[in-house]
Amino acid sequence: MSMTAVCKVVEIPPDGGLRVEMPGRPAVAVFIADGAFYVIDDLCTHGDASLADGMIEDMEVICPYHMGSFDLRTGAAVKAPCSIPIKSYATEARDGVLYALIQPA
Ligand code: FES
Repeated sequence: MSMTAVCKVVEIPPDGGLRVEMPGRPAVAVFIADGAFYVIDDLCTHGDASLADGMIEDMEVICPYHMGSFDLRTGAAVKAPCSIPIKSYATEARDGVLYALIQPA
């Protein structure tokens, strides 16, 4: 695996998520929380919801469908009905671009 460019840092909203289509693999959701960048899979593990549309609260992303949540830092499922972790990826911002350690197509 190598660091893959995900988006420009300026594209990430300060108070919400950004859904990014990735060629050949499922979309990811990008967030800023407490000054750090987080990249997770966008599709909730509980249902057909985009986590990029969720809210951030106490380092958790809250799914917009059933209000389950995941820890942004680890991907762990925190609040029911979510029970399966979401994949999370290491990030690095360089020269205004956010990279994540995800498998490209
Ligand atoms: S679809 Fe995300 S909590 Fe149900």
